[in-house]
Amino acid sequence: MPGRLEPDPLPRRDFLGLAGWWAAGVAIIGSVLGMARLPKPRVLPEASARFRAGKLDEFTPGVVKTDHEHNVRLVATEDGIAAMSLVCTHLGCIVGESSEGFLCPCHGSRFDQDGNVIGGPAPRSLPWLALSQAADGSLVVDKGKEVPQGEFFVA
Ligand code: FES
Repeated sequence: MPGRLEPDPLPRRDFLGLAGWWAAGVAIIGSVLGMARLPKPRVLPEASARFRAGKLDEFTPGVVKTDHEHNVRLVATEDGIAAMSLVCTHLGCIVGESSEGFLCPCHGSRFDQDGNVIGGPAPRSLPWLALSQAADGSLVVDKGKEVPQGEFFVA
């Protein structure tokens, strides 16, 4: 005699009916959750890689400016203006100035004034970054675009 510990076996027809209802329920819940996510953007906007470094006419030959917020060093020479990233090419630490040029505090990579590797594990030189002039006369640095070392921006 079936009891609480030994229930009647579920007839196959009832089992298939229950399975169908469960599948329909899961599909409906999944659809509702999917629709609820639609208004949210799947790709979050990143901060722009471009920033204004100051008025272009501030950069007269001899001016050296370090932008600690963006980790970029700007140098104005007779040839034009250059911007160099201060992010170490080894694992991304921020390099600091040293007597030779720049020194990475994390693993000791050393770079000369132009960003060339002169010691340590860094695989390549510090990248020089693209510069342009905004319509309002500002100097714009594009951290997302590298230029060949030695390429100066001339307005
Ligand atoms: S992160 Fe600069 S040397 Fe490793």
